[in-house]
Amino acid sequence: MNLDWIVPAERIQKLPPYVFARLDELKAKAREQGLDLIDLGMGNPDGATPQPVVEAAIAALKNPANHGYPPFEGTASFRRAITNWYHRRYGVTLDPDSEALPLLGSKEGLTHLAIAYINPGDLVLVPSPAYPAHFRGPAIAGGKVHSLILKPENDWLIDLGAIPDDVAQSAKMLYFNYPSNPTAATAPREFFEEIVAFARKHEIILVHDLCYAELAFDGYQPTSLLEIPGAKEIGVEFHTLSKTYNMAGWRVGFVVGNRHIIQGLRTLKTNLDYGIFAALQTAAETALQLPDVYLHEVQQRYCTRRDFLIQELGKLGWDIPKTKATMYLWIKSPEGMGSTDFALNVLQQTGVVMTPGNAFGIAGEGYVRISLIADCDRLGEAMRRFQQAGIRYQSEAVVST
Ligand SMILES: Cc1ncc(COP(=O)(O)O)c(C=O)c1O
Repeated sequence: MNLDWIVPAERIQKLPPYVFARLDELKAKAREQGLDLIDLGMGNPDGATPQPVVEAAIAALKNPANHGYPPFEGTASFRRAITNWYHRRYGVTLDPDSEALPLLGSKEGLTHLAIAYINPGDLVLVPSPAYPAHFRGPAIAGGKVHSLILKPENDWLIDLGAIPDDVAQSAKMLYFNYPSNPTAATAPREFFEEIVAFARKHEIILVHDLCYAELAFDGYQPTSLLEIPGAKEIGVEFHTLSKTYNMAGWRVGFVVGNRHIIQGLRTLKTNLDYGIFAALQTAAETALQLPDVYLHEVQQRYCTRRDFLIQELGKLGWDIPKTKATMYLWIKSPEGMGSTDFALNVLQQTGVVMTPGNAFGIAGEGYVRISLIADCDRLGEAMRRFQQAGIRYQSEAVVST
């Protein structure tokens, strides 16, 4: 039978291939060729979930009360744990019933928020480079994405002054993310004040992704959007347990902030899913209540890797300023070489996987992202392979000898 008539909707057909899926294919090929891959491509934390969280999950799993459908909007006690955590961390008071919503991971919520609010043709402001869900969600919703080009000379901060007035006036939503994936840039509090004033002036829904809230180093404390007076009237903030608590596979995140914005997302989700398995919500509560020593261990682990890799890449010609947060290094491709060519070249020659910067949008071209998801022995091995293959940063287009 001819099955050509089975075609996905245009909104799916129009999406460029998800780069991580493409990387997976290339990795599979490399493995077939017998390469020992060192995968620094995805932001998939390599550590174990803290033991108290695993134990809480096991106990909750044994309780039949958790075996049915969970409440659509999340359990009351997980929502309370979220708002208590917020108060403890940021001094922000939130109503657990209307201003906090558990999510099946923050990617799900970031994407669905666009579907809940964006009509076909609506304008959405999204930085480039950015985490793909920030522009793919609006694209799936049929919105028009206006890229806010980030530049190294502006420390990868959004230049609000460069947004034309007519664009600002017609925009409905703005996504942003500091500490940033992929650039690892951080934003000072004054920037948050400016962006809140900008969104209020132009009546734009502000969506902040604070995914790396706690992967911060050397005493740096990232700012929460909701710390800024007036932010809660126009904005929401997304969090995840994936990174800090090594729970990427558990699919637990949440959104907090403006009750009306959250209500739209809740209504959509009520029609789509039943929320997180209740046993996992109990475990997630335990995670949010862990003593800070667990966080410090995770922070120290990434900090040690950061220092090691910056030093080793320095020997190969890359001059990388110390990052204050995230699990990434954002490094230049050798001059004259595109991101994809460089990442593929390195993969083929060394078995080291990095993500081409253009996966994060047009302004990521010329960079690659390295995830600090292997221990220093493995990172050292990656650097030895770079050295052997003659891979180094040069301002001329020579990559390997
Ligand atoms: C900025 C950012 N937001 C959201 C996510 C997705 O996190 P989750 O596991 O909660 O879906 C990621 C994952 O890498 C991310 O980097």
